[in-house]
Amino acid sequence: MALQAPPALYADPDPLQDFCIADLAMTSTPINGFPLNGFPCKPASNVTASDFIFNGLAVEGNTTNPFGSNVTAGNVLAFPGLNTLGLSMNRIDLAPGGLNPPHHHPRATELEIVVKGEVLIGFISSGNVYFSSVLKEGQMFVIPRGMIHFQMNVGKEKGLVITTFNSQLPGAVVAPLALFAAKPDVPNEVLTKALQVDEGVVQLIKSKFAAAF
Ligand code: GLV
Ligand code: MN
Repeated sequence: MALQAPPALYADPDPLQDFCIADLAMTSTPINGFPLNGFPCKPASNVTASDFIFNGLAVEGNTTNPFGSNVTAGNVLAFPGLNTLGLSMNRIDLAPGGLNPPHHHPRATELEIVVKGEVLIGFISSGNVYFSSVLKEGQMFVIPRGMIHFQMNVGKEKGLVITTFNSQLPGAVVAPLALFAAKPDVPNEVLTKALQVDEGVVQLIKSKFAAAF
């Protein structure tokens, strides 16, 4: 049997230098007319220890919203020191009963740990199988790349989950917002057919997201 090369199993490409602190101000500046995939580096002579520090995840997020949850992103846009390093982290705060709604990350696998509370975590595979578990402090769950998933606080206290990604900018497509709050609107005839409901139901859901988000 012929030997085959192992498949590539990484997300973002490996860096070609020690660090490349993102110069976010230059993101939209194509170089010689070519758009950049990622961000250019700030000059190394201007880099200091503070470029490698991010305090954003130390702060509890405000969960006073219809979902009862808050995601604080620690990606390259918030923490430019991550540029080219192929990883990032988020903080998810969940009020009792709060839900981080079904969403997926087009560019990363997600590995998460419950720091506080009792959290139902689940994902649905491309074979339409639902995998889930209720996790407590210290337990981890992995969401394979691209799978739609959620976290729901099923305990009586506040919940806290820290998520990590093998991408500096995993991206997130939030299912209810993508379907019902996209701009311009997804046509009602697409949604009524897809969900097999009357137009009034689609309008009602759209109005809820238009008011709340
Ligand atoms: C949680 O699912 C997150 O995307 O941080
Ligand atoms: Mn996620």
